[in-house]
Amino acid sequence: MSLLDILQFPDERLRRVAEPVATFDSALSALTEQMLETMYESRGVGLAATQVNEHRRLFVADCAEDGEAPAPMIFINPVILDRQGLVDSEEGCLSIPGINGMVPRAELVRVRAHDVRGDEFEVTTGGLLSICIQHEIDHLDGRLFIDYFSSLKRQRIRKKFEKALRQQDQA
Ligand code: NI
Repeated sequence: MSLLDILQFPDERLRRVAEPVATFDSALSALTEQMLETMYESRGVGLAATQVNEHRRLFVADCAEDGEAPAPMIFINPVILDRQGLVDSEEGCLSIPGINGMVPRAELVRVRAHDVRGDEFEVTTGGLLSICIQHEIDHLDGRLFIDYFSSLKRQRIRKKFEKALRQQDQA
């Protein structure tokens, strides 16, 4: 199975708002498998379809601690039903490599989503999975974690990535 390319900031396709998934077929299932493989290969804990240029509302995650058994999860058409508390979470993103920063997030979330067969499920969670769910749903809405930074800091990051792109083009 081949790995998927992950869109890199400042690619404008990361800003597209994803459409709901309407068909639960084998192609959808294959996409989730490829996304999980790509996420594991990249050592990420979550990957949204938007990041692999598939503008459909789904993401994959595995927030198991180091040393724990893998716990792959698939969320299709996820909706946050309830948020409680507030935490500062330190985040990074496979689409913005090398950048980390603090983001205000809800501490606990209650989420409704569908699995690959189309069956609905609900999860109430805190910890890393709660943060991951909020970060990935942001991707589906075209939002990045750096959008929570000050505009000055965002501009610096944009310049850094644009410069790297130019150097790549010249090489
Ligand atoms: Ni991300």
